Amino acid sequence: MSHQTELITVLDVDTTEEALHIIEASAGCAWYKIGSQLFTRCGPAIVELVLGMGRRVMLDLKYHDIPNTVEHAAAGATALGAGLFTLHASGGRAMIAAARKAVEGAPTQILAVTILTSFDDATLKSDIGLHETAAQAVPRLAKLAVESGAHGIVCSPQEITLVRAAVGPGPLIVTPGIRPAWSTKDDQARIMTPAQARDAGASMIVVGRPILKHANPAEAVRLIQEELNS
Ligand code: C5P
Repeated sequence: MSHQTELITVLDVDTTEEALHIIEASAGCAWYKIGSQLFTRCGPAIVELVLGMGRRVMLDLKYHDIPNTVEHAAAGATALGAGLFTLHASGGRAMIAAARKAVEGAPTQILAVTILTSFDDATLKSDIGLHETAAQAVPRLAKLAVESGAHGIVCSPQEITLVRAAVGPGPLIVTPGIRPAWSTKDDQARIMTPAQARDAGASMIVVGRPILKHANPAEAVRLIQEELNS
């Protein structure tokens, strides 16, 4: 494959000490995902700490609010120095466009989440009232997000082909649900290896437990990068 697929290591922990330990143990990884778990406990300081260590941050707070609020949150993420941040595509055109306005001219890029993979077609209908299947809603929302100003999409490995067809070659596709052949599946049901995700068109892969639970996380990072570059 001609494109370079980047690795993002997950910082799903509760404390600064645990986050620091992972970053120090995963030398060679350039990107870290900070989500609501760590951010709610440690706040913007944890983002500043990671950036201060020369690493880059995907701020995964999945904004979903009125356009004015998301515009200001997006401005905050940009000022903080996040390289990527997430919002929900279902927040709609005006919300995504407002976020885009806030990052214009900055190196920060916006990733849109379409349908959370914790939903299946039955719960999409019963809980959300959506009369589309996930396979219909995901490409529709991906297209809407990119047309409205998102730079990329977060999706499961199985959705990469569908999303790529919907948004074209330009936008980033970032995917969790990755398991190298040498790791365990944990609770991830439908997985791809790093090389499979790369070949399916992923721009970046998000990896947690295969790195965090490895006896030598730096070795796990090295193995994954070697596979991505093979
Ligand atoms: O440990 P693991 O590699 O499974 O971690 C994957 C990360 O991606 C976690 O932060 C998890 O919450 C997130 N995620 C996921 N599957 C999705 C969406 C997000 O595993 N469908």
